[in-house]
Amino acid sequence: MMAGSVLDDSLAFGALRACEEAAVAACRLVGRGDEKAADQAAVDAMRAGLNRIPMKGRIVIGEGERDEAPMLYIGEEVGTGEGPEIDIALDPLEGTTLTAKAMANALAVLALAPRGGLLYAPDTYMDKLAIGPGYPAGVVDLDASPADNVKALAKAKGKDVSDMTVCVLDRPRHEEIISGLRGAGARIHLITDGDVAGIIATTNPKTGIDMYVGQGGAPEGVLAAAALRCVGGQMQGRLFFRNDDERGRAAKTGIEDLDRKYDLRDMASKDTIFIATGVTNGGMLDGVSTGAGGVRTHSMVMDSASGAVRRVRTRMPVKA
Ligand code: FBP
Repeated sequence: MMAGSVLDDSLAFGALRACEEAAVAACRLVGRGDEKAADQAAVDAMRAGLNRIPMKGRIVIGEGERDEAPMLYIGEEVGTGEGPEIDIALDPLEGTTLTAKAMANALAVLALAPRGGLLYAPDTYMDKLAIGPGYPAGVVDLDASPADNVKALAKAKGKDVSDMTVCVLDRPRHEEIISGLRGAGARIHLITDGDVAGIIATTNPKTGIDMYVGQGGAPEGVLAAAALRCVGGQMQGRLFFRNDDERGRAAKTGIEDLDRKYDLRDMASKDTIFIATGVTNGGMLDGVSTGAGGVRTHSMVMDSASGAVRRVRTRMPVKA
């Protein structure tokens, strides 16, 4: 962590524990077909973990608005009430359906920043575009077509478009994006859920994913931006509203320009710590496993100030 930063190691460790505990709580519900129960278990555990941390924490991306989310709602204060002022974006269970169906890549996710460091985004959709680090700024752009973007990125990588792979959420609303990309010659890596992991995958050459494009949750967009601020890469997002109610919700969060194109650093504007713990096994992290020695978790802790990425394996005794 950066010397003198409010994001110190003890804060990161407390947040790691909260994330691990959310993943362990959710893992008991893996494969049980109950998205809500899995989400609730993760929420309860993460909240208890956050409330142990010495900080004046405030949720900016959470489980929804106060009237619709009983816990970890946007604006809720967490922590002991003493210590630094911290803004928190979280998704205690990113991939509720993945968990309910025992599918790969469900995560518990959390990002922390000094107050005002994370976009206070409404719970609407967001059009997203992301690539990994090492390319000229603006090589891709949300306002260009996905086909033009993949061609431009292929050129920057010195690859043929036919060797490019683009990750897209498998949804009917993405038909046009998919056909445009396939028409340009690219491969599509379809995911059923979990675009935070889909976006982070662009930053790791081992995944073979070159670009992420499509519409997913705005909260997940801010979490992914926090991760990319730590590991590098480019990301843009624009809120997408299906009706006036959603536009009203955005206005309530203080957003004036509803058509604004957000850059990574608009969404994660200050130093941040990003933490993810695997719930089910996935390409990025192993899921929670239980054996003779206790419960084992696998997490990643990223820190934008130092650029460090730590992979943490924890074993804890099984609670009775
Ligand atoms: P949940 O954890 O709430 O199930 O969300 C998973 C997710 O796939 C996100 O990763 C993604 O941003 C969003 O849902 C996409 O929304 P939709 O399922 O409505 O297309």
